[in-house]
Amino acid sequence: MKKIRQPAEPYRIKAVEPIKLLSRREREERIVRAHYNVFKLDAVDIYIDLLTDSGTGAMSNAQWAALMLGDETYAGAQSFRKFEAVVKDITCKKFVVPCHQGRVAENIAFSTLLKAGQYVPNNTHFDTTRGNCLHKGGNPVDLPSPDASEIEARPFKGNMDTEALEAFIKEEGVDAIPMVIMTITNNSSGGQPVSMANIHETSEICHRYGIPFFFDCARFAENAYFIKRDEAGYGDKSIQEIVHEMFACCDGAMMSAKKDGLANIGGFIAVNDEELYNRFCELLIMIEGFKTYGGLAGRDLEALAVGLQEVMDYDYLDFRVEQVRYFGEIIKQAGMPIVEPTGGHALFIDAGRFLPNIAPEQFPAQGLTIAFYLEGCIRSVEIGTLMFGEEDPETGEITPARQELVRLALPRRVYTNSHLDYIAETAERITAQKASIPGYKVVKQPRFLRHFTCDLAVASNQEVLS
Ligand code: F0G
Repeated sequence: MKKIRQPAEPYRIKAVEPIKLLSRREREERIVRAHYNVFKLDAVDIYIDLLTDSGTGAMSNAQWAALMLGDETYAGAQSFRKFEAVVKDITCKKFVVPCHQGRVAENIAFSTLLKAGQYVPNNTHFDTTRGNCLHKGGNPVDLPSPDASEIEARPFKGNMDTEALEAFIKEEGVDAIPMVIMTITNNSSGGQPVSMANIHETSEICHRYGIPFFFDCARFAENAYFIKRDEAGYGDKSIQEIVHEMFACCDGAMMSAKKDGLANIGGFIAVNDEELYNRFCELLIMIEGFKTYGGLAGRDLEALAVGLQEVMDYDYLDFRVEQVRYFGEIIKQAGMPIVEPTGGHALFIDAGRFLPNIAPEQFPAQGLTIAFYLEGCIRSVEIGTLMFGEEDPETGEITPARQELVRLALPRRVYTNSHLDYIAETAERITAQKASIPGYKVVKQPRFLRHFTCDLAVASNQEVLS
């Protein structure tokens, strides 16, 4: 293999968590028992777990120390005041509603702002955002920039299609659109960032039409890093300055702080409108907890107050994004096509191009996901027709997803480059035997979000097209 420059970690390790590589026989037994659904595997059965970067990060020594300061008072805890001050500073907003994770922020925002039948445009909704919008009777509308699904590497593929946004507002009318959301970085579109120019343009359109503009900002610091690295005029600005400029453009922000909060749990909504804040709190108190803890322990709020600041450290972000890039390079060398450029939190392998002999109806990305487990005890996740394909309830016919991807999400500060090298070696072995990877079929499924709980089986010989 050609040597590729490896970024070095800007931290050293103080506590370790043992992981175990099961034997091939054990892996075969576990995946059969899990009905070929990686969501049904237990953590102890996995050597390297890249299912998600959400809530799976390692905390710093400063965060662990802060836990002891947790003030568990029901109302008015000191820990909340610290968290609130940090969130206000980052988001440039006056009011902060704490909650235990991002989907609660979505639920509260949509329950308060959305009327049945209205539309919510977004560069691309994350699946829980889409789910919460639908659940409140709304219509989620994805308006990704036209180059989002092009193979060619270009910066800021996560952008909103602002022309399409304005055309949509004109067509549906302002009253049909209670809010516009910008997801930064754009998780469902390859973890690609959004440019500052696109944030300003989207903000300008929303404000011209008087529509509230919200961020879904789970990975705001990673997005700011890309702006500094790739957008003209931002190279000399600090991450904090860029973050402030980003948030000054929006009226509100929802965050799953399990990502760029560098903590294992947490979330918030931040707004400037006091009346809206009060309405959010009415619901919060009913479903999450009082407005100075929102479903979190005081110690969680302490860890978040520290993590939300640590995440804006340039050296940390540079390592993080470089590690994803390095990962992409070695996986490409191992013979697998990836979505380019690499984004901030995950690598997306294009299983459609890697396994063109498996039809979308037989889930090529699931085939590759299972191969990673069998060959290397590695957990990834299918993002393709199994997750997003739509089945006609009468004919059973499946409309394939736009792309057949396998996502390998990198938990923050958890795995070293040696782990990534091990994954690339596994990928090389998979490439060498890719003709033997079978397709799969669903044998049992629930009514909604089938990928989480369905049972699968290997498609029979006649069904396998290879
Ligand atoms: N918004 C985005 C952009 C997300 O990526 C997620 C979660 C959420 C909202 C929901 O937040 O999990 O705290 O309720 N993404 C995880 C993932 C689950 O694996 O990408 P949550």
